[in-house]
Amino acid sequence: MSKIKISVIPGDGIGQEVVPETLKVLDTLAEIHGGVSFQYETHPWSCEYYLEHGIMMPTDGMARLHQTDAIYLGAVGNPKLVPDHVSLWGLLIKIRRECEQVINIRPAQYIEGVTSPLAEPNNFDFIVVRENSEGEYSEVGGRIHSGEDAIAIQNAVFTRKATERTIRYAFELAQKRKGRVTSATKSNGIVHSMPFWDEVFQEVANTYPEIETESNHIDALAAFFVSKPQHFDVVVASNLFGDILTDLGAAIMGSIGIAPAANINLNGKYPSMFEPVHGSAPDIIGKGIANPIGQLWTAKMMLDHLGFEELGSMLFRAIKETIGEGIKTRDLGGSANMKEVIDHIIGKLRLYSK
Ligand code: NAD
Ligand code: IPM
Ligand code: MN
Repeated sequence: MSKIKISVIPGDGIGQEVVPETLKVLDTLAEIHGGVSFQYETHPWSCEYYLEHGIMMPTDGMARLHQTDAIYLGAVGNPKLVPDHVSLWGLLIKIRRECEQVINIRPAQYIEGVTSPLAEPNNFDFIVVRENSEGEYSEVGGRIHSGEDAIAIQNAVFTRKATERTIRYAFELAQKRKGRVTSATKSNGIVHSMPFWDEVFQEVANTYPEIETESNHIDALAAFFVSKPQHFDVVVASNLFGDILTDLGAAIMGSIGIAPAANINLNGKYPSMFEPVHGSAPDIIGKGIANPIGQLWTAKMMLDHLGFEELGSMLFRAIKETIGEGIKTRDLGGSANMKEVIDHIIGKLRLYSK
C-alpha cells in the first residue's frame, strides 16, 4: 500500500465548504484503487486563524508542508476579517514562493453541458502557463509620502531565469499537445519588461522549430479568448497577465466555479500546490451552493501529478458525466447543491469500479 501524504488547507470562505467534501471523493478513489491511501494533514490556517494568532500560519508551518507530497488548498482571503494583502502574502503567496512553485498551470476547455456565454464555444481546449514567482507580483515597491502627495510604486521584476523556465515549460507542454504556443505580451514599447519577455520567448522558440509560435498583445489576446478560443493550445503569460487571462478562461467555460489550477514546483525540493482558480466567494458562504467542480478538477490535476493518472481520468469522466446529466449548481444554471453534486460523483465512481 503506498501512502501519499497531503497537506490540506481549506482556507477561507467556500474553501472550508468544498475542500472537506472533495476529500470524500479522493477517499472513494483510493478505495477503488486499493493500493493507495491518502493521508491528510489538515491545517486551519485562514483569516480566522489570523485573528486568533496574529499570523496566517505558524512558524513551523512551512516545514510541515515540506514533509508532504502535495498541498491541497481551497482559497485564501476574507477581507471582512483581514485585509487581503495580509492574508495573501501571509499564506497563499508565501507558500507559492517558499515552496518554489514557479509555474501555475490553468486549463480551460469547453465542457459539454456547461452553458458558455460564447455563441460558439465549439470544443475549445487550451492551457495557460502562468509565471508564478515574480513579474508584476514582485516584492519591490511600496508607498512614499502621504495625503495629496502619496505615491504607490510597484516595480515589475522579470529575471531571465524565471522568464525562460516558464516559456520553456510552455513549449514542452505544447510538444505533448497540439504544438502551438501563444505568448501574451505588451511589447509595443510601453512596458519595459515585455520586449525582454519577447526576446527570451524568441530564443526559446528557436530551440523548438517544430512548434508553431505567435505573440499577441495582452489586450488583443483577451479579445481573441472570446472571439476565437479554439485557436489556442498553450498560452504563456506573466504573473498578472496569466491571472487575468485565467479568470477570463473560466468565464468562457461557463463559470469560475469549475476552473482548476496547479502551482508546480520544478526542482523536486518542495511539494506542488493544487488550488482552484476561484477565491473564497464571500457572497455565497454558508449557502451550500458553492460549485465543487473547480476544486475537484484541481484534485484531478493533483492525482495526475502524483502519478495516479488512471484515477485522475476516472474522476474527470465522473465530473463530465455528472454535468452532462444536469446535476449542476446554480452558477451553471442548475439547482443542485454542493453535496448533491459530490454524492452523484461518488455514486458514479462506485459504479465504474463494479
Ligand atoms: P471569487 O472567485 O471568490 O468570487 C468571484 C465570483 O465568483 C463571486 O460571485 C463568487 O460567488 C463566484 N464563485 C467563485 N467560486 C465559486 C464556486 N466554486 N461556485 C459558485 N460560485 C463561485 O473572487 P473575489 O470575490 O474577487 O475574491 C474573494 C476573496 O478570495 C478575496 O479575498 C480574494 O483575494 C480571494 N481570492 C483567493 C484566491 C485563492 O486563494 N486562490 C483566488 C482568488 C481570489
Ligand atoms: C489567483 C488569485 C491570486 C493571484 C490572488 C488571490 C493573490 O487571484 O490565484 O488567481 O492573483 O494569484
Ligand atoms: Mn486570480
